[in-house]
Amino acid sequence: MGHTRSIEKIRPIHPFAARMAPEIAFEALKGLRKNSTVLDPMVGSGTVLRTVSEHGYNGMGFDIDPLAVLMSKAWTTPFNSEKIKSKAEELIDEVNSLHLNSIYLPWIDNDPATKAFINFWFGKKQANSLRKISFAISTHKGTYNDLLKVAFSRLIITKTKGASLAADVSHSRPHRVYEKNDFDVLTSFANSCGALAKIFEKQKPKGKINVRLGDARNLEDVTDKSISAIITSPPYLNALDYMRGHKLSLVWLGYKIGELGSVRSNSVGVEKAPDSIANMQLATDLTKGITHLEKLPQRKQNMIKRYALDMYGIVEESARVLEKCGKATFVVGNSCINEVFVENSLIVRNSCQMAGLRLINQKERDIPQSKRYLPPPSYKNVSSFKNRMRTESVMRFSK
Ligand SMILES: C[S@@+](CC[C@H](N)C(=O)[O-])C[C@H]1O[C@@H](n2cnc3c(N)ncnc32)[C@H](O)[C@@H]1O
Repeated sequence: MGHTRSIEKIRPIHPFAARMAPEIAFEALKGLRKNSTVLDPMVGSGTVLRTVSEHGYNGMGFDIDPLAVLMSKAWTTPFNSEKIKSKAEELIDEVNSLHLNSIYLPWIDNDPATKAFINFWFGKKQANSLRKISFAISTHKGTYNDLLKVAFSRLIITKTKGASLAADVSHSRPHRVYEKNDFDVLTSFANSCGALAKIFEKQKPKGKINVRLGDARNLEDVTDKSISAIITSPPYLNALDYMRGHKLSLVWLGYKIGELGSVRSNSVGVEKAPDSIANMQLATDLTKGITHLEKLPQRKQNMIKRYALDMYGIVEESARVLEKCGKATFVVGNSCINEVFVENSLIVRNSCQMAGLRLINQKERDIPQSKRYLPPPSYKNVSSFKNRMRTESVMRFSK
């Protein structure tokens, strides 16, 4: 369909740990007919949907994480860069006219846990400036205001020094490394808005994309058989806890720390046992083929079972919304739990088979060095194991 930019050259607008390789989405879109709707039920950074938009297809996406929704929605909206600049100027003027003692942020000021979290992770000077921007942003609505939230979040989700006292927030491994911080929040915010205006001036998304908060295991807003293709990369079991980093930003965007805890515990892939009413026989069937599970402590076995049941929930919903002969592409890497190798792709394949999706092909692909989750030290010398942790599986299914 039409001319498309080289997909690797599309600049992201916000950092995200474990972004999917855009060429996987690009490959999966080949041969799709005009006016097709593509779904990513776990959008993350929005790479799949931005690729979908580049090709002029319609896209729909969900994520349980409000920050993922915010960045994906913004990345797939055709913003006018002049309007970004003028909206940013208006907001900055407003921020400069604010007095600290007139600012009230109820989700922080009335919640001791959120207040304590902020006092731990942020220096006083930065927190005062963040309060001002947070207040000004919270009094407006609309897509341009949402983009300014992305510009704001970029000051916090950083690799090295940003608005917080932590490093490595962008990898979702925040650790408090700075005692003092001289980061200039207000100047950096203006620069961040300018950088986004520049990105949208050069590269505007094309297709119609709709991104919302939602749970991939229960896509209640999506009609049966309405989707031509699904392209997604579910979280790997136990690999990344996105909320660890994202909460540093979300506490400034209206969320209490307790609320973010519930988002985390509802996320697929986190360390949690199945609910007591869960179907344990189904969980056993879904993990068929994974060896040495019995060597793990019960708690870890339960965690794997929960992951398998969650994955089945995602696949079952995918099968429901796909049209006849629709295609689903799932990308997953492997995990290592207490030295037991867990082939997550096997869980996806078992789930698809049970939900009536037929495997067309499976390809292994190298995970770039920078994105690898290394096996624990005791496994560093076992070369067969090491190799399997270096690849991810791209599986294509048909309904
Ligand atoms: C591996 S990331 C997706 C990566 C994405 N393809 C990209 O390129 O950035 C997995 C995403 O699944 C989301 N997630 C976890 N549990 C979910 C659920 N129950 N429903 C919807 N999204 C969920 C996480 O918040 C995370 O953003």
